[in-house]
Amino acid sequence: MKQTLCIANQKGGVGKTTTSVHLASGLARKGERVLLIDLDAQNNASSVFPETFVVEGKDSFLLFSEKVPISDLKVPTRIEGLSLLPGSSKLSQVDVLLSGKIDGFFILKEALEVCSSEFDWVVIDCPPSLSLITMNAFVASSGLIVPLQVSKFSLDGIEAILEAKNHTVKRFNPDLKILGALLTLFQQRTTMSQTVVPMIEEHLRLFDSKIPPSVAVEEAHLLNQTLYEYQPKNKTTKSYQQFTEEVYSLGG
Ligand SMILES: Nc1ncnc2c1ncn2[C@@H]1O[C@H](COP(=O)(O)OP(=O)(O)OP(=O)(O)O)[C@@H](O)[C@H]1O
Ligand SMILES: [Mg+2]
Repeated sequence: MKQTLCIANQKGGVGKTTTSVHLASGLARKGERVLLIDLDAQNNASSVFPETFVVEGKDSFLLFSEKVPISDLKVPTRIEGLSLLPGSSKLSQVDVLLSGKIDGFFILKEALEVCSSEFDWVVIDCPPSLSLITMNAFVASSGLIVPLQVSKFSLDGIEAILEAKNHTVKRFNPDLKILGALLTLFQQRTTMSQTVVPMIEEHLRLFDSKIPPSVAVEEAHLLNQTLYEYQPKNKTTKSYQQFTEEVYSLGG
């Protein structure tokens, strides 16, 4: 395994799922063996791959509830090289299920260790919270990527995510590094971006790639397609491709 990447931000609707799907499918399109893990009860990442719905009884909740091995839960997608560990609406029960359990933070890490030779990259789409599920992702990961929108509220949220990361490094996973923040829905040359970007950079390294807004993103989601399939020449598609190259070059 080259890297396990956690795509996280406790703020909702900042592009975590869109980024996870396009990083995972982008790496697979480069010939890498990739596992995309959907840890959100909303199932948004899984919904891009409806071909996996036919396989019932395979989802990431079973990993936490019954410790079913990942090799029994992963499902192939239509994209060569990309497997999915689907999400489940039951994931909302995980915090209650694991609270007070000593090994509650390590379930995902231990499950991934068993199948580490099967994949080059693991990409984890986190829910919009710093819950036990997200902490499991932090503990299991080598790299953290923080999708961010340019806004006052995004700035306010940076401190909490850095605190959670530092806590994880100190207590559970000294290997976790922040690879950077990815600006999504980014409009260059606005007063807002010129003011806020330097403020973000005081706390977080930014990826060179920035993701511009495009209606193609919603349209692709509606059609259960990735941008690479729906509009390969779109500027947002190309930005995600460039971002994938940046992450790939960090692979080691
Ligand atoms: N570059 C973009 N251009 C236009 N719309 C976008 C773009 N990126 C994401 N969106 C839209 O913004 C919304 C939120 O995106 P997404 O679901 O990826 O965020 P999220 O952080 O995973 O949300 P949640 O916190 O609910 O899990 C979606 O409706 C998505 O289609
Ligand atoms: Mg999401």
